[in-house]
Amino acid sequence: MPDNFTKRIAIYPGSFDPITNGHVDIIKRAARMFDEVIVLIAFNPNKVYLFSVEERMEMIREIFKDVSEIRVDCYSGLLVDYMKMSGANIILRGMRALSDFEYEFQMALMNRRQTKNIETVFLMSGFKWFYTSSKLIKEVVGLGGSVKGLVPDNVHQKLLEKYGAGNRG
Ligand code: PNS
Repeated sequence: MPDNFTKRIAIYPGSFDPITNGHVDIIKRAARMFDEVIVLIAFNPNKVYLFSVEERMEMIREIFKDVSEIRVDCYSGLLVDYMKMSGANIILRGMRALSDFEYEFQMALMNRRQTKNIETVFLMSGFKWFYTSSKLIKEVVGLGGSVKGLVPDNVHQKLLEKYGAGNRG
């Protein structure tokens, strides 16, 4: 390892309410590109959450328990402040369709305005997960539909617990 080696740390912030297979796909792709990926449960004031921060952290930790390059953390302040504290300068976000673009572009530019030396890197999610979103997952399970295969098994189980037995999940 060269003397001047600096660890390439990417922060993957989001609500993850709950984490989906689309998120997992992005995290796995990122783990091949960076030395460390921190999955950060951050606060989005525009959302009402189904799962507590602790529940979301536990689900994500369980999924990546055997992957040393992936860490899970939470933060309720500004993302750029967390970046400064952690010494990371890359924000990672997944992009599915064109409909994601405007929201992502605005956040990336706002974060860049807050602080220098931070770049947002976008990864395209796998085609399989094009239509997978936490919002739709909750809506479908809440109304008794099936989301099996769209979320990790432990998340599927938790969703069934939240919405009650008898649900097809
Ligand atoms: O999964 P989401 O809800 O689309 O993620 C949005 C999130 C949590 C990344 C964003 O709301 C965020 O960065 N929250 C932390 C507070 C902050 O820095 N807000 C300014 C964003 S430009």
